[in-house]
Amino acid sequence: MASKSRWADTEEDAALEAKIKREKEEKKRLKAEKARKAAEKAQAEEAARQRTLQAQQHEEDLDADRPSKRRKLTPEHDHDPLKPTSQSQGGDSGKLLRFEAGSWGPARSVENYDKLNDIEEGAYGWVARAKEIQTGKVVALKRLKLDDSPSNRVGLPETGLREIQILKDCSHRNIVSLHEVVVNDGASDSRSRKIESIFLVLEFVEHDLKSILEDMSEPFLASEVKTLLRQLGEGVAYLHDNWILHRDLKTSNLLLNNRGQLKIADFGMARYVGDPAPPKLTQLVVTLWYRSPELLLGAKTYGNAVDMWSIGCIFGELLAREPLLQGKNEVDELTQIFELCGIPTDESWPSFRRLPNARSLRVPKGSSAATGSVIRARFPLLTAAGTALLNGLLSLDPDKRPSAREMLRHEYFVQDPKPKHEAMFPTFPSKAGQERRRRRETPNAPGRGQKAAELGSVDFSGIFAGREREEKGGGFTLRML
Ligand SMILES: Nc1ncnc2c1ncn2[C@@H]1O[C@H](COP(=O)(O)OP(=O)(O)O)[C@@H](O)[C@H]1O
Ligand SMILES: [Mg+2]
Repeated sequence: MASKSRWADTEEDAALEAKIKREKEEKKRLKAEKARKAAEKAQAEEAARQRTLQAQQHEEDLDADRPSKRRKLTPEHDHDPLKPTSQSQGGDSGKLLRFEAGSWGPARSVENYDKLNDIEEGAYGWVARAKEIQTGKVVALKRLKLDDSPSNRVGLPETGLREIQILKDCSHRNIVSLHEVVVNDGASDSRSRKIESIFLVLEFVEHDLKSILEDMSEPFLASEVKTLLRQLGEGVAYLHDNWILHRDLKTSNLLLNNRGQLKIADFGMARYVGDPAPPKLTQLVVTLWYRSPELLLGAKTYGNAVDMWSIGCIFGELLAREPLLQGKNEVDELTQIFELCGIPTDESWPSFRRLPNARSLRVPKGSSAATGSVIRARFPLLTAAGTALLNGLLSLDPDKRPSAREMLRHEYFVQDPKPKHEAMFPTFPSKAGQERRRRRETPNAPGRGQKAAELGSVDFSGIFAGREREEKGGGFTLRML
């Protein structure tokens, strides 16, 4: 029986107090019981989890020789999983896509760099050699073109964003590497932080192939052309494996360092594409002299083959030391292409008639001389394998061009002369390293918002005048719609 509280005046009070105490004790007991049961349940769950894990481990041990059926969430390679890998092929669907999750912070200021000299300054862009003050590291600074039209509040055109994104994602010895992105935000008034310019901080590379070709006294040796073309193929294969189209491959966008290493640069026209490619890609891509016939004929659906055509043009340029197809405008470019590669036929390019600008293309009937390629005659010193590869890259029909991976397996790279070892590559005085470049009169990549040429009917007759007498005058007309 409960002892009497000194506050309890009556027996009744004492009984009530005893009752309350009993109730409290009962509650406490129930609570303890509940906690014990919960602990037991948790323990049982943990044990079950351990058993499942052990069973899985056992299964994996048994499966060790077979490819795992489960998709692994953890990367098996030790490099950055966020970056595309050079091994990932188009058909490799086992890989999970990973997206970078925010590591956003304010970009550093361009004031961290001292300009050493201009490399390229023109209507289209500005690139300079610079030194990071803190580390003394020499880099190339490329200023992105800002869009100051009132409709664009951010100021950075979509192409600039793509260039940053794609360079950030790429990691390959034949692709120029991006160290960081810095801004010039008018440091004197840090409160407003209005960004005036955005710069890419790129690894500095001593030369671009265009400058070298212009200045060299002797052409590249066959073994040197092979080394350059193979590296270009490796870089482009990496891009295409990772669903990136460059869309502006040309010698001024190919850099070469003093160790014979080629690096693809200028991703201002590049974009990610899927499979199948988006149905309405802009046709105004690729600098005129490196632009494929399907683009010139107005194709809106196109793919990796546009880059392969440009590689063909670059191959020819490395051999001849001057651009291969220097058209004055779209029609002239097509004329020069047809003069070199032959005019398209239903056999050589079955689908060309369906392209928007091909409808009014009139081809002479029964013509044989005009449909063959004259690449062999134009490059008499090139080996048979080399000619076959160049012919393949410059196939009018995009489906007949080799992919970058196929190109790398071509006999041309196996046959003698073997590709020259990069370390044995000749060195050249670096213009970019010392002095301002002169402006060169060559066409640029098409600008955004620019419209495709609208030309009237153009007479193509007589472009094959030199080939065969009976073909004289049997030309064709093309109207760009
Ligand atoms: N990382 C670099 N190192 C050295 N020179 C470079 C580098 N990037 C570009 N250049 C030089 O600047 C030129 C223009 O750069 P690019 O990226 O092609 O810009 P644009 O879009 O103006 O053509 C190139 O042709 C090359 O000569
Ligand atoms: Mg460029």
